[in-house]
Amino acid sequence: MLKGKCVVLGVTGSIAAYKIANLASALVKLGADVNVIMTKNATNFINPITFETLTSNKCLVDTFDRDFQFNVEHVALAKRADIFMVAPASANVIGKMAHGIADDMLTTTILAAKCKKLVSPAMNTNMFTNPIVQDNLETLKKYGFEIIQPASGYLACGDTGAGKMPEPEVLLQYILKEIAFEHDLNGKKVMITAGPTQEAIDPVRYISNHSTGKMGYAIARAAMLRGAEVTLVSGPVAIEPPMFVDVVNIKSAAEMADVVKSKAGEMDIIIKSAAVADYRPANVAAEKIKKKDGEAAAIELERTEDILSFLGANKKPGQFICGFSMETENMLENSKAKLKKKNVDMIVANNLRTAGAGFGTDTNVVTLITAENARELPIMSKDDVAQAILDEIVK
Ligand SMILES: Cc1cc2nc3c(=O)[nH]c(=O)nc-3n(C[C@H](O)[C@H](O)[C@H](O)COP(=O)(O)O)c2cc1C
Repeated sequence: MLKGKCVVLGVTGSIAAYKIANLASALVKLGADVNVIMTKNATNFINPITFETLTSNKCLVDTFDRDFQFNVEHVALAKRADIFMVAPASANVIGKMAHGIADDMLTTTILAAKCKKLVSPAMNTNMFTNPIVQDNLETLKKYGFEIIQPASGYLACGDTGAGKMPEPEVLLQYILKEIAFEHDLNGKKVMITAGPTQEAIDPVRYISNHSTGKMGYAIARAAMLRGAEVTLVSGPVAIEPPMFVDVVNIKSAAEMADVVKSKAGEMDIIIKSAAVADYRPANVAAEKIKKKDGEAAAIELERTEDILSFLGANKKPGQFICGFSMETENMLENSKAKLKKKNVDMIVANNLRTAGAGFGTDTNVVTLITAENARELPIMSKDDVAQAILDEIVK
């Protein structure tokens, strides 16, 4: 995912420095060329050898160190960097960066770097809330640095409050958002529906289906990584939503329809991947479905609203609408008919009889059907299917 990308990590004198070993390792596993620059004080918290072993690159500390195995001038890394993250960022280094001080390798290199710069402050809560530090952070923002808000919680110093560096997995997502993919959906508003809906029978029971939300969540994450502003309208699922996505949680088809209708007008792309329950109980009143003399009473069903048809009928000029179809037979014909009848631009068809396709799995086998053609994709991870769907939409 990060092959050919140069990531520079700046590590300063904070207790959180040790966590950056995990971040460096995760970045290397994704194929990035990872270069770590430490302040001298940071070496009190973690040894440069740790980073050198994990990244296979020399960890830079001293600007005037000439013991390089290859030719590096002090701004060479600044030129090569695709992204620069200072984490943990001490109050001291934040102050220096805000005022153009370049008295060590880290602050010198960051002053020379033109790439996107991310700063993750980590410090005691009284230091963090000090107006001097806050002013310095504002100054950095003014100069185009992105500040990652520290989490609140129990700090290493024993105090509780804001100042905790987010976990490495969270910092990784900030880096991926910037450099993992070309931002070909920049400025686009994308709405994705995902998961099942639950149609209440009574306060205890409901009608639903086996959708886990994995496919829709993968599309939401892929669209976010490609620069889109993403709204994810989700039924009840057991998976974590992607970061940097606006999540609206709903339960029933009617709630999903309300949210989708209220937001559809402002969207450039709408992808309906949710497995909306087709039916809901018409006689919700609990007493009607209670067993009578040991016999189960029948539940009357009524159809839920067809959200995709609403979207097709109310499509605004230039808007792209994509639906999903799950078929057990005549997949191609049924999906093509659906495309036409519902006035949508693309149908992603699943054949539920194919191994590795459909609900619950981490893979999917789909055919992308547009008015012009039908393209069957091989078995792929849901993340790769998500990218392929977006590739087709961008095309
Ligand atoms: C145990 C310990 C933990 C520290 N943790 C932090 C911290 O989380 N954030 C911070 O800004 N300073 C922290 N400091 C103070 C910095 O290390 C000190 O300000 C140092 O001069 C920063 O150097 P640097 O910015 O060049 O890395 C800590 C100091 C000690 C002794």
